[in-house]
Amino acid sequence: MNLNIRKARPKDMDRVYEIEQESFPPEEAATKEKYIWRQEHYPELFLIAEDSGHICGCICMISMDASLINDDVFETDPIPDGKTCAVLTVMTEAAARRKGVAGLLLEAGIDAARSQGMDSIVLTCKEHLVHYYSRFGFEKVGVSASVHGGAVWYDMTQKL
Ligand SMILES: CC(C)(COP(=O)(O)OP(=O)(O)OC[C@H]1O[C@@H](n2cnc3c(N)ncnc32)[C@H](O)[C@@H]1OP(=O)(O)O)[C@@H](O)C(=O)NCCC(=O)NCCS
Repeated sequence: MNLNIRKARPKDMDRVYEIEQESFPPEEAATKEKYIWRQEHYPELFLIAEDSGHICGCICMISMDASLINDDVFETDPIPDGKTCAVLTVMTEAAARRKGVAGLLLEAGIDAARSQGMDSIVLTCKEHLVHYYSRFGFEKVGVSASVHGGAVWYDMTQKL
């Protein structure tokens, strides 16, 4: 692979949405409009992975004042801004998984959050990914208040 990480641009959103659809079940998947809104509002915190120019993954984050994720972050209404960086999506196209793409995106996302002056970075994940995110410095807090898509999520946090 010839991977490059860069900030997302508006014209990337069609491809981001394609990857979203193959990565999440319909009840968890965000709409294209949500990705467009997030890129407009948090352009420094939305990163794309490209393999020789082909978009193969992304990390989409926002800033907020709450210390942990709740389901408000998945809407497009403005939420109070603050020093917590919330990771809303990490995903890699199915054909490019298990090659380190998400790992690179997470490292770049943590760097971007630090550069933006965030105090901490937080995410929610399913139980089977807790060990994966712990490799990147995230610590499990417990079951999240989020019931996004009707699933059980775990809060993970990292001080920056
Ligand atoms: C979860 C997800 C983002 C991981 O993306 P990825 O690009 O495959 O991630 P990585 O390649 O960094 O790591 C995945 C696995 O591949 C392994 N790996 C990394 N580089 C590798 C390489 N060069 N060769 C073989 N394996 C490798 C990692 O060790 C990890 O192993 P594990 O499953 O035993 O923990 C991806 O599976 C995905 O998009 N899933 C659907 C959406 C989703 O669930 N997102 C997370 C929401 S919380």
